[in-house]
Amino acid sequence: MTLLNGKETAAQIRAEIKGRADRFLVKRGYPVGLAVVLIGENPASQVYVRNKIKACEEAGIRSFAYYLPQSTSQKDAEELVSSLAENKQVHGILVQLPLPNGLDAEKILAKIPAEKDIDGFSENNIGSLALGKKAIVACTPLGVMELLKRYGVSVAGKRAVVVGRSNIVGKPMAMLLLNADATVTVCHSKTQNLKEECRNADILIAAIGKAKFITADMVKENAIVVDVGMNRDENGLCGDVDFAEVQKKASYITPVPGGVGPMTIAMLLNNVCEAAERTEE
Ligand code: GUN
Repeated sequence: MTLLNGKETAAQIRAEIKGRADRFLVKRGYPVGLAVVLIGENPASQVYVRNKIKACEEAGIRSFAYYLPQSTSQKDAEELVSSLAENKQVHGILVQLPLPNGLDAEKILAKIPAEKDIDGFSENNIGSLALGKKAIVACTPLGVMELLKRYGVSVAGKRAVVVGRSNIVGKPMAMLLLNADATVTVCHSKTQNLKEECRNADILIAAIGKAKFITADMVKENAIVVDVGMNRDENGLCGDVDFAEVQKKASYITPVPGGVGPMTIAMLLNNVCEAAERTEE
């Protein structure tokens, strides 16, 4: 069994991105810039945003942080995003989700132009991804692909099963795997015979959001298992995969923490850097 070490791989990628960000600064005279908008006081979101901003700093990417109160109006939120869309120093805009109740996330996100949509959530980017065209791709699924690539795990021709169909992970993950010539099945809460579907997987991606949901009896011998989950149970942080048991069967497996999570942040930095590099001088 080989551990897919996301922490180590992400550190390497972040060092590469620092080189790119430094070269951008020298060439343009101003840094790569990411605007981060956090509305309300969701504790998990606060941690995520703090980590993203810290990672930017370390990579030589300037961050513009906007912390808005829970009471922020729809109009104010939309106006802020619209002003960031116009700002030439801002190459990427990230509106941390979920937004407080009462705000229409779709309308706020629609103010982010596709070329600054470094989360890859816009219809434009999702559509391009579906068509196999150049797109900014959601950071988590992109991080999974990059991790597999850096460990020399080939995808073409393999049976990939994605468990979870969210717009942020499951769907773009399935499209990336399909674009890389895997034979892809997407499973979800209404899937019949989930265990049998999972047992067919050469590559199993767990993106369900339930602690230790994928048990050893659901995994084929020598499968490649990628755990996108981040849950808390009585023993602390854990993924969607019962790691202790599944690792005995897997050929490759990601740990939680230290697997997909760090890759997500590295891909965010990558997406911001690419968005900046694509702008006109
Ligand atoms: N909330 C949870 N994950 C994400 C993410 O990747 N991007 C944004 N903007 N919000 C999130």
